Amino acid sequence: MKFKEKIREIQDFPEKGIQFKDITTLLKDGKAFHAAINQLAQPFRHQDIDLVVGPEARGFVVGAPVAYALGVGFVPVRKSGKLPGETLSYRYTLEYGENVLEVHRDAVKPGQKVLIADDLLATGGTTRAVVQMVEQLGGEVVGLTFMIELLYLKGRQLLGHDNITSLLKYK
Ligand code: PRP
Repeated sequence: MKFKEKIREIQDFPEKGIQFKDITTLLKDGKAFHAAINQLAQPFRHQDIDLVVGPEARGFVVGAPVAYALGVGFVPVRKSGKLPGETLSYRYTLEYGENVLEVHRDAVKPGQKVLIADDLLATGGTTRAVVQMVEQLGGEVVGLTFMIELLYLKGRQLLGHDNITSLLKYK
């Protein structure tokens, strides 16, 4: 399947100079969505994974079906103030400003093997925050998977992990 043809590119969103990769056009195509999730899950079917962790919001759309395909649980990392239980908060800086992510403290048990999933690896800032949150809870990040990777932003280098996969790479 030619997944790139299913992604709509929108100029100057969310700001001038950025060409936004819109996955909603892939998601609404049942065959493409199904094939994309299967392909993302495939390399991890025979790896020892206990949980998939995905950040709000588009990380839920990718992470939850990947977890379902692997037959493991899904843990949401949410924007501040959304989770009802006791949370671990993680504050990190973005190009413009700051962001806070939260995860339930009991969501990942020490020693559990975690796959992180999201729609997009850009600078890697979001994923790095999620890695650190999983590790603070005692989890072990054994892999990371993305629908789209923007190679020119070098997120892969920032993360420095040896088990990163992505479905679509943009130069
Ligand atoms: C987007 C995307 C990734 C992140 C990638 O999320 O879904 O999580 O940015 O960028 P980075 O690699 O530079 O951190 P966004 O914060 O726009 O949230 P959303 O999923 O709620 O739209």
